[in-house]
Amino acid sequence: MIKVAILTLSDKGSKGERKDTSGPTIERMVKKIGAEVSSYEIIPDEKALIKKRLLSLCKKVDLILTTGGTGLSPRDVTPDATREVIEQEIPGIAEAMRYKGSKKTPFAMLSRAVAGTRGKTLIINLPGSPAAVKENLSVILACLPHAVEKIKGSTEDCAHTGRHSSLCPE
Ligand code: MTE
Repeated sequence: MIKVAILTLSDKGSKGERKDTSGPTIERMVKKIGAEVSSYEIIPDEKALIKKRLLSLCKKVDLILTTGGTGLSPRDVTPDATREVIEQEIPGIAEAMRYKGSKKTPFAMLSRAVAGTRGKTLIINLPGSPAAVKENLSVILACLPHAVEKIKGSTEDCAHTGRHSSLCPE
């Protein structure tokens, strides 16, 4: 069972001025891969606070999914906070999301989302709108259980499990 924390970054959401539908969208989607959401918070777009929450959650969960604050406005600082927390970047995750997303909307390239690990926790930024969450998360959802297993130290021989052919039939 993958333990997941959802962190919604939104100034308005944190003050109760906007209902967060992106966090619940993430929860619905990760349940499809048998994950359990053990933490869900909405906090403002404050870099120091985001860093603090990420560092604390890393000790408790396998996967942290953030939503919001990945764009270009002055208050969008989620990727900057995440970069200061991760020890190893996994560029392919964000690359895949932007690549797939940009086939649907050119705005997908405006997300500065990053993904990486700290200790045995995987952290992935998703953009803020529920539609963007759906589109981005659906690109990476199938690879998350394997990624988490590997990060937790699985030494399974990937080349001989047949797992990849089932995910990517030719
Ligand atoms: N990616 C996909 N697949 N679909 C989208 O609708 N929205 C984009 C982008 N990524 C979008 C997307 C937009 S409009 C912006 S501004 C950036 O994500 C950053 O969003 P954020 O600041 O809410 O994180």
